[in-house]
Amino acid sequence: MTETIDLGAYGTAFTDDPHALYAELRARGPVHHVRLPPPLAHQTAWLVVGYEEARTALADPRLAKDDSKIGGRTLDADLIGPYLLVADPPRHTRLRQLVVREFTPRRVTELLPRIRQITDDLLDAMVPRGRADLIESLAFPLPITVIAELLGVPTMDREAFRRMSNEIVAPTSGDAEYEAVTTLVTYLDDLIEDKRCSGPADGLLSALIRTRAEDGDRLSARELRAMAFLLLVAGHETTVNLIANGVHALLTHPDQLAALRADMTLLDNAVEEMLRYEGPVENATYRFAAEPLDIGGTPIPVGHSVLIGLTAADRDPDRFTGPARFDIRRAAQGHLAFGHGIHYCLGAPLARAEGRIAVRALLDRCPDLALDGPPGPWVPGLLMRGMRRLPVRW
Ligand code: HEM
Repeated sequence: MTETIDLGAYGTAFTDDPHALYAELRARGPVHHVRLPPPLAHQTAWLVVGYEEARTALADPRLAKDDSKIGGRTLDADLIGPYLLVADPPRHTRLRQLVVREFTPRRVTELLPRIRQITDDLLDAMVPRGRADLIESLAFPLPITVIAELLGVPTMDREAFRRMSNEIVAPTSGDAEYEAVTTLVTYLDDLIEDKRCSGPADGLLSALIRTRAEDGDRLSARELRAMAFLLLVAGHETTVNLIANGVHALLTHPDQLAALRADMTLLDNAVEEMLRYEGPVENATYRFAAEPLDIGGTPIPVGHSVLIGLTAADRDPDRFTGPARFDIRRAAQGHLAFGHGIHYCLGAPLARAEGRIAVRALLDRCPDLALDGPPGPWVPGLLMRGMRRLPVRW
């Protein structure tokens, strides 16, 4: 008889520090049957916590994203429309093809001056104040401004969007999530309609609207809205956490901070270590066994949900020596913070660029940067790993 581990029983201790439980589970085996914490306590899933098993599972086509194959209908696919993270090939391949060229390393290189400019403007406003919530002042506004400009919706109401998006990635209740999703869907439909009516314009959203108008076979109206939804939500929630978790790791490891300040050529590697040590995405989005399969010796029945622990995998001592140590010089490459396989993060080059620029500029402008009290609460739920506030002074 399989033991089911009730993640809700660990309460906020698990939200504040999931690493302790993941380490305990990993020591017992790579795959566990778990009951999800509230508000999803009615659901169970198989949780993969070993690095090798997680990497293999991320690339296993028997683990599907489109749950209509097993007779399910997720809230997301139903209300929002089919987007990359709830699609399998061939639909996934077609949708990814439509946007992939906007996110190549080359395209991101063209964006660097603008990312630096936005960062400098935000720091110009923050630095004279002497103390700030780093999330409010830098980690949130930077990525949302970048992705809104890239999509061509620079005047978007960011605070309204932030409230909806926060609720969607870390729902406080089923009703609140439903309301946030429906509000965001209406908001995106209005945005797309405005763009369509205002005629030809720059930006990815206008380009996708043109694709839809010229070739509706390649992009349906629901797919267009779902793509906008995913790019906006995935394009900022995660990067907020990269910047905040990364700066938090530096400020709580003064030797590492000093090493980086002394040698800024370590920056790129330091960002990889930030992604490994406290990655923004705790578990990959849900997958379903479309066929029977075995993960690390555990049989997964058809139709069951599988959660792949990215945070857990990236602290697997069989893959990373002394995994609980934050070490900006270690070989952190191969971490799973951006996933693996066909759903590998589309925005990885952009996120890395934003993380590097933000950390470099912040350290340059605030030579004596320090924590100004404990960070705000950690975000609940199994998807994201991040804090709501990061008080700093300089
Ligand atoms: C540090 C920041 C980021 C992290 C840690 C991150 C992490 C991830 C992960 C783990 C996945 C795979 C999820 C899975 O397989 O279930 C993913 C997919 C995705 N990410 Fe990111 N992401 C980040 C930033 C971004 C940015 C800036 C964008 C920009 C637009 C973006 C867009 C996407 C998209 C569109 C997908 C779906 C790809 C697909 O299904 O083919 N992400 N991301």
